[in-house]
Amino acid sequence: MEKVRYGIIGVGAQGHKYAEFLFDGYDKNAVLTAICDIKEDRRKWAEGRLKGVKIFSDYKEMLKSGLIDVVLVETPHYFHPQIVKDVLDAGLHVMSDKPAGVYTKAVRETVEYAKTKPNQICALLLNQRTNKVYRKAKEIIESGELGNLKRIVWIITNWYRPQAYYDQGGWRGTWAGEGGGVLINQDPHQLDLFTWLAGQKIKKVWATAKTVGRKINVENDVTACCEFENGATGVFITSTHDAPGTNRLEITGDGGKIVISGPNDWMMKMEYTKLETKEPEFSATNKVFMGKPKSKTITYKYSYFEILEKLIKNKGMQHPDVFRNLSNVILGKEKKLIGTYEEGLNGLTFSNAIHLSAWTGKEITLPLDEDLFIAELEKRKAEEAKASKK
Ligand SMILES: NC(=O)c1ccc[n+]([C@@H]2O[C@H](COP(=O)([O-])OP(=O)(O)OC[C@H]3O[C@@H](n4cnc5c(N)ncnc54)[C@H](O)[C@@H]3O)[C@@H](O)[C@H]2O)c1
Repeated sequence: MEKVRYGIIGVGAQGHKYAEFLFDGYDKNAVLTAICDIKEDRRKWAEGRLKGVKIFSDYKEMLKSGLIDVVLVETPHYFHPQIVKDVLDAGLHVMSDKPAGVYTKAVRETVEYAKTKPNQICALLLNQRTNKVYRKAKEIIESGELGNLKRIVWIITNWYRPQAYYDQGGWRGTWAGEGGGVLINQDPHQLDLFTWLAGQKIKKVWATAKTVGRKINVENDVTACCEFENGATGVFITSTHDAPGTNRLEITGDGGKIVISGPNDWMMKMEYTKLETKEPEFSATNKVFMGKPKSKTITYKYSYFEILEKLIKNKGMQHPDVFRNLSNVILGKEKKLIGTYEEGLNGLTFSNAIHLSAWTGKEITLPLDEDLFIAELEKRKAEEAKASKK
């Protein structure tokens, strides 16, 4: 195989951008050979913009066509686990966009199925993991320099969405169409990074989730606390209605602290404060009343040239980097995927636990009661359907 042949299921708001990246040659190891969409207007768009690409209205026909090696799944979230399974069943590689699904039970079933197809790649599009500052943080944490995790706190309230965003209608902002609000739409990236960087399994979750200032059924304001298996604690605060919002992530270990902040992907900055002596050792040996460990702080951020290069190579910061990695892994030129579909379970478990805690008013101990989660979600779908008939 010289070039990896891509097919895309769903060329709506997001999938059409990936179709353009691939069609326009942003990944030199990839070629877009087919797309599928159930909507005629999207197929018409593809006919005009993607000359020579085969267009389907039924994805199962596309999977049988023999035209593709890998499929990007770009439909609304509820469909992701089933479509991923169908793609694997057709003998093809697959990458689902985030979230892996709406609830862990369906995702876990697909993850188990993927294990029966070890020669096929099953990936998740976690483009925020390509951000230099998050990668650097992961490297420092994995090196052991930051020491044992003590606390992780993320305030992410700057992905602002006005009422007009929700008024687009369709599946967005509804229990039946989307299965949640900010947690399932905007935050799968941050919930993934939160669990990825913590590198610890979450043990307990307690949370509130509310709708503030918008005419929607789902949550747009969340405060969640968690406890990790090593006893460290976490706080995750998110909303889509704060103006101005904040993006500040603090990870404290007994070897120092990482603070990541910034208004957008281009301007993210990381400050890493490294203690000369790990805090427990310092406290055990220090004799000075009110003494403090000595430290030095290093700052990481994108340079002007890196931003320019990303703009030219990527039309933005992240997504084509993910496709290049996927193609390279398929071609055997790189070993490690940026994100596996299975890893999607980590952030989704946290997300489902936050919802369940907010719905029941109780602290949730993991593993999650998946059937209770589905029953509670179904209740909300039923109430929504009843209200829409009034
Ligand atoms: N990674 C990112 O940065 C990012 C950003 C935005 C959205 N997303 C994800 O992309 C996915 C799609 O979001 P969107 O905003 O493009 O939604 P959208 O509604 O604009 O597009 C979805 C498309 O899928 C099509 N579709 C639905 N069911 C289909 C089927 N069975 N077969 C073929 N086509 C089908 C629809 O007709 C539509 O054109 C979501 O899961 C979302 O979370 C990811």
